[in-house]
Amino acid sequence: MGDTVAVFPTLEELSHAAARAVVAAAGAAIAQRGRFTLVLAGGRTPKALYQLLAGDYRAQIDWSKVYLFWGDERYVPHNDPQSNTRMAREALIGHVPVPAEQVFPMETGYGNPETAARAYESALSAAFRGARPDFDLVLLGMGADGHTASLFPGTGAERVQDRWVIPVRANVAPPLRLSLTLPLLTGARQALFLVTGEDKRSVLQAVLTDAQAGERYPAALVHAAGHAHWYVDAAANPL
Ligand code: 6PG
Repeated sequence: MGDTVAVFPTLEELSHAAARAVVAAAGAAIAQRGRFTLVLAGGRTPKALYQLLAGDYRAQIDWSKVYLFWGDERYVPHNDPQSNTRMAREALIGHVPVPAEQVFPMETGYGNPETAARAYESALSAAFRGARPDFDLVLLGMGADGHTASLFPGTGAERVQDRWVIPVRANVAPPLRLSLTLPLLTGARQALFLVTGEDKRSVLQAVLTDAQAGERYPAALVHAAGHAHWYVDAAANPL
């Protein structure tokens, strides 16, 4: 399937490698297409990467040509500590000169999350001139239950093919989410998973070795351009 797995002793070393991968993807995309469209992951794992991109690696990216999107969002206000937008703003966006009009958070101020999902689809359509988004790089995490973005097992979210963005009600806190759908994740040029922690090892083993894992674990279904790259720390490494 073309997946690759790189194992790092620590989160810090994993994050440096991921920063180098983002820098490389940005340089290639900007050289070839004049811009770099990057989808940010939420949760805890990518925070160290974002801080490195805003720090050690800041000068290696032409931020004037970067477009930032989110793979999913918790349906809470952006100033909520659980907000993926808040985490990325604090760790990255507030420290780099990316033009505000090139940052596309998933808005969560609508009364109905379905309205919010439709609004994000419109924002994506405008950013990609009406075509289905073909992101240059999608950053993703994986939960211990095998979810990725907010495509949670048991919700059917991973089977949605006719939408770009959907609301999802998950059995985790906070339950209401917005998520890019599988067609958008697999339609990207590159997908990079960042997975750490012993609690993910058994699911990761299934995802990486069981051809049927996608029936249980949505993370196993993401193969951008035919493959996925996995950056894994020693604690999560099943191989
Ligand atoms: C979210 C994420 C989610 C995350 C995984 C892993 O909103 O929580 O987008 O898919 O990537 O749950 O989260 P950790 O990095 O915190 O383990």
